[in-house]
Amino acid sequence: MKNIDSYTHLRGESLFVDDIITRQDTLYGLVFDSPKAHGKISSINYAIAEALEGVIKIFTYKDILGKNQIGGIIPDEPLWAEEEVHFWGQPIAFIVAETEAIAKKARALIEIEIEELPIITTAREAKEKGSFINAPRSFRLGNANEALKKCKHIFEGNTFSNGQEHLYLETQGAYAVPMENGNIKITSSTQGPTSVQKMVAQVLGVSMHKIEIDVIRLGGGFGGKEDQATPWAVMAAVAVQQLKKPVKYILNRHDDLRMTGKRHPYDSTYKIGLDEHLKIIAYEVEFLQNSGAAADLSPAIAERTLFHATNSYYIPNVSSIVHSCKTNLPPNTAFRGFGGPQGMFVIESAIARAADALKIDKKIIQEANLLVENDTFSYGQIATKVEMKNTWNTAKKQFNLEKIESETAKFNAANTNYKKGISLMPITFGISFTNTPMNHARALIHIYQDGSVGVSTGAVEMGQSVNTKMLQVASQTLGISPNKVKLETTNTTRVANTSPSAASATADLNGKAVLKACKALIERLKVIAANLLNANIEHIVFKEDVVFATKEDVAISWEEVIAAAMLKRVALTENAHYATPTIHFDKTKEKGHPFAYHVYGTAITQVTVDCMRGTYEIDAVKIVHDFGKSMNLGIDIGQVEGALAQGIGWMTIEEIAYGKDGRLLSNALSTYKVPDVFSAAKKVEIIPLETQGNEMAILKSKAVGEPPLMYGIGAYFAIQHAIKVFNPKHKLQFHAPYTPEKVLLSLYK
Ligand code: MTE
Ligand code: HPA
Ligand code: MOS
Repeated sequence: MKNIDSYTHLRGESLFVDDIITRQDTLYGLVFDSPKAHGKISSINYAIAEALEGVIKIFTYKDILGKNQIGGIIPDEPLWAEEEVHFWGQPIAFIVAETEAIAKKARALIEIEIEELPIITTAREAKEKGSFINAPRSFRLGNANEALKKCKHIFEGNTFSNGQEHLYLETQGAYAVPMENGNIKITSSTQGPTSVQKMVAQVLGVSMHKIEIDVIRLGGGFGGKEDQATPWAVMAAVAVQQLKKPVKYILNRHDDLRMTGKRHPYDSTYKIGLDEHLKIIAYEVEFLQNSGAAADLSPAIAERTLFHATNSYYIPNVSSIVHSCKTNLPPNTAFRGFGGPQGMFVIESAIARAADALKIDKKIIQEANLLVENDTFSYGQIATKVEMKNTWNTAKKQFNLEKIESETAKFNAANTNYKKGISLMPITFGISFTNTPMNHARALIHIYQDGSVGVSTGAVEMGQSVNTKMLQVASQTLGISPNKVKLETTNTTRVANTSPSAASATADLNGKAVLKACKALIERLKVIAANLLNANIEHIVFKEDVVFATKEDVAISWEEVIAAAMLKRVALTENAHYATPTIHFDKTKEKGHPFAYHVYGTAITQVTVDCMRGTYEIDAVKIVHDFGKSMNLGIDIGQVEGALAQGIGWMTIEEIAYGKDGRLLSNALSTYKVPDVFSAAKKVEIIPLETQGNEMAILKSKAVGEPPLMYGIGAYFAIQHAIKVFNPKHKLQFHAPYTPEKVLLSLYK
């Protein structure tokens, strides 16, 4: 089954926020943001801007009737700055004008004076100065400190991984329309309709039921719209509340790049200890997360880093700590992997460092420590149905690693200016929101009297094809053809109190709710069908638009059953709620069973480095991935390919740069290198691992959105391998991304 959006996507007919037909009296918003990273606002003059013809009003925090607060986890983020600004790009005011062009002109006329204060841009500096978002978190297993004393080999070092721009094709935006009695309807490009609704209500000082959020689909989110789609919708709503006219605000790319947060840069320190058999006995790690100027989702992301600090390895003694460091950058936020990739980069670096010092192949240490059944994670969960070694061994065998290695060695012996490198990258990723209370979803199903079906869930379609998966679940469970089922927009009046579409768990959570609702409808319809067919209820089967009784050998169409149900006044609507069973986590002990299950996989990455220029090509990435029993292999393979490209980009060419003054330097697509077709792997081979799947996954089809991003980490280590072949004296560095400039320096230093 194809993605149900492919037809309209291809023809340019799919609707996004900016495609909605606007009401004639629509006004346009634009943010005026801070031109300094930290300081006291000594004066602002809006008079000249406000006097411009076509400017309706400039809103500031003084116009807020509720609370000037949009912090989700910690209330530390004003919608609009009051006396102080804390990052370059922080919203201060909202210009509403008759056109976008007028608003833009007005923005240039606002005069501001800021008394500058000292700026922190790096996590390390923040730690030295004691600038934190919250208290640090720490996971412990065994006693790492004691165990290290007994280790034969001990290595320590630093690593750095940089941020990453989400670069969703559709920029942030919202369209807010006044309805009756002070109610407001907002179409938003958000992964979290309920958080938008909640924050609008809080800032406007009204109840949530007065605010309706509708999401058609997103032109990509990648985590960047889990929390940071909220402010723009809230601003438009504040203006609607007072002007009683529709207000639209779509950010242009420049403004979006400057004002929104990104993947968190991490500065980390590790100590790893191995015994004589290369078993990792102890691992100590300190993560410094560059959180930016407000909490946003940083505490949750920090937590997921700890959950993934040992990646796919069993380590009996672990001591990990993460500090969310407060800096004067835009608040960094969710990005595919949600802190997991940052954690995994450090353990892979530690292993690479150990292998280099011991003069052995990195994969020997990796392989000696792979997770097996009943191993304990540092957070107390016992690993079950572990497929780690299965993916690793299958990858080695199916892709003939020995041949890849011998051909690589042959190439390297024959070539002076080009060197090839290889790496193996195992992944183990936990599925569920790490915050247990968020793991729930609902579905609302209407069967219309002609037999067609409308499905509403809390899931947001953002290109990951969750709507197609929901449609598959409904059509399969009801036994009707896919063209009878329609996926409705995601709307807070139909499905309330949703968790954001995130954590790769959207299809699992919402899909299980769809399944439950459809099963309940079928139970009701079976009674009707048994009656009509004069058959035993136990023999009734719904399949391919036909309802039949297996033993009695009689059949009737789906439509006839629905028509009969209507006459009998049977409810053709069902609402179902699903909450992941068995998961729990105790934050006071930092132990529990937070994940429904884990996703496993192994990637072999092959690269060629041009040793005169420092440039490189990703020749191939060969993956064995644990999809469980994939319900849609086309979609799932697409997710692996997309995530891989994004992961490679993060590790290689994408480079976020801020000046010492806290200004974003990589503030345009001319200064931020986006992975394109030339930087993508020349060849991507994906073999689905043969397994039984997992009951906790929807139709045993495992979550796939985020885990494969971390295969991209393999690119870093394959490049490093090639560098080391060319320049054996190179002292390894773990400082991502591996831009061609950095590669060149490594080749000759
Ligand atoms: N794929 C596309 N095409 N666009 C996206 O924005 N977001 C990713 C992933 N795949 C994303 C995507 C992220 S960050 C997550 S958490 C999951 O999809 C969310 O959807 P799921 O829970 O349905 O996998
Ligand atoms: N993953 C993704 N998004 C989230 C999570 C998580 O674990 N928790 C809160 N938002
Ligand atoms: Mo994804 S980072 O959980 O939106």
